[in-house]
Amino acid sequence: MKQQSEIIIFDTTLRDGEQSPGASMNQAEKLRIATQLEKLGVNVMEAGFPAASEGDFKAVQAIAKTLKTSQVAALCRADENDIKLGWEAIKDAVNPRIHTFIATSELHMKYKLDMGPDKVLERAVESVKFAASFTDNVEFSAEDGSRSDKDFLCRVFEAVIDAGATTINLPDTVGYAIPEEFEELVKYVKTNTPNMDKAVLSVHCHNDLGLATSNTLSGIQAGARQVEVTINGIGERAGNTSLEEVVMALHTRPNFFPYTTSIDTTRIYPTSRLVSMITGMLIQPNRAVVGANAFAHEAGIHQDGILKNPMTYEIMKPETIGLNKNNLVLGKHSGSHALNSHILEMGYNLSKEELDIVFKKFKHLADRKKNILDEDIEALINEGVLRSSEVFSLEYIHVLSGNTVLPTASVKLNINGRPVQGALEGNGPIDAVYNIISKLTCTKSKLLRFTISALTEGTDAQGEVTVRLQEDGIIALGKGADPDIITASALAYINGLNRLEYLKENPVVKLENL
Ligand code: KIV
Ligand code: ZN
Repeated sequence: MKQQSEIIIFDTTLRDGEQSPGASMNQAEKLRIATQLEKLGVNVMEAGFPAASEGDFKAVQAIAKTLKTSQVAALCRADENDIKLGWEAIKDAVNPRIHTFIATSELHMKYKLDMGPDKVLERAVESVKFAASFTDNVEFSAEDGSRSDKDFLCRVFEAVIDAGATTINLPDTVGYAIPEEFEELVKYVKTNTPNMDKAVLSVHCHNDLGLATSNTLSGIQAGARQVEVTINGIGERAGNTSLEEVVMALHTRPNFFPYTTSIDTTRIYPTSRLVSMITGMLIQPNRAVVGANAFAHEAGIHQDGILKNPMTYEIMKPETIGLNKNNLVLGKHSGSHALNSHILEMGYNLSKEELDIVFKKFKHLADRKKNILDEDIEALINEGVLRSSEVFSLEYIHVLSGNTVLPTASVKLNINGRPVQGALEGNGPIDAVYNIISKLTCTKSKLLRFTISALTEGTDAQGEVTVRLQEDGIIALGKGADPDIITASALAYINGLNRLEYLKENPVVKLENL
């Protein structure tokens, strides 16, 4: 097989990324991210794990029916029922892929699967054969591959390629590998699996030691031609390899990495922002490529150099990742036509009713904020459309606060269409709001984290609040935005409570619990 110079980007934001504590998404949100990932140019999108829940199945099915260019993969255990369900969910995709996996390390086989190596090998082969009876696009993953016996790995890979697997994925499931060691392992597998030239070799790294990107790049150097990544590196525990880091490393250092990808790098920043907003997973300011400080130069000596020649301290241009792209400004006088066509350009396909809802919210916001930016519009759509069919919603909020009064909040909520209202005090205005919301909703969640930041620049910016709630062992993230930060706090709390309700119905199944 000719050496392939394009690196296949397999995005698993919607599957492994969703396993981040609290990052679960509803179907509309998943669809929105999926259409954005397609625009970004990912080759394969792992849309979910259909056997995990009915919600997951339906979301994968909706994505498969919607996407036009990206391949859509469904994750399935090495099990006939999982594979049948997986196929059922993706069969209408333009190019569906079944991704089946089983663990191959001593530890996992003995303690998790209670199976010997021969049984695991047999199960892997049977599953791949079964998957190949539906499609010739079959991926096989050896879970905990980096801690597996090298020769056993090669035996399994050879057998599953003979059984019909066209992509072979080597995961560092627990983020244990070290770059040099991982490079050696990928090379070993490549040279000691006799039929490896009949499949694409892939790597899938976790970031427990902060080495996911390094390991992935080492994997490429060793011959891997598919990388499994997520936006902002979200995922189980410390996360997965981040798409933006790998793509920009390849893009920035072509002398070192003579490979291409199909990614439109100018869509990296908007995609990162969207995933953060929808999942509620904040991006740390110093995060590589997409962090708020990634292109900020504070030191005078740096600023001077940048002004004379940006290349002095900037190895990537902000516009390359879509950071300085013109963010169209709308305002009070913008009509529905301008708003609708901008929403379409942003990648949303909203119905007439949904556009009407957003336009109403837009007008309301424009009365209070002069310039409405993309971030504002995303927040309006998120609140008004993507999360509309929820249990709790805010009707009214009034707060009395100051340094000489007892903070008191009066709140009216809608609970499944039924109005309820009440008032309570607190030690501050937000405490008062949360106390009354918790009483009205009869919920007992614990507030684990509360953060607030400005959505855009300027003193009239919307406040963006993120909360992390826990109830009965389930963790959910909630987000809310409004020029009034108390209202934003209430919206975030209500959003978090809705997420908890959703998660009770649609639990995210963790691989480690299988
Ligand atoms: O980390 C892992 O091993 C996985 C596999 C299912 C590919 O996510
Ligand atoms: Zn994983």
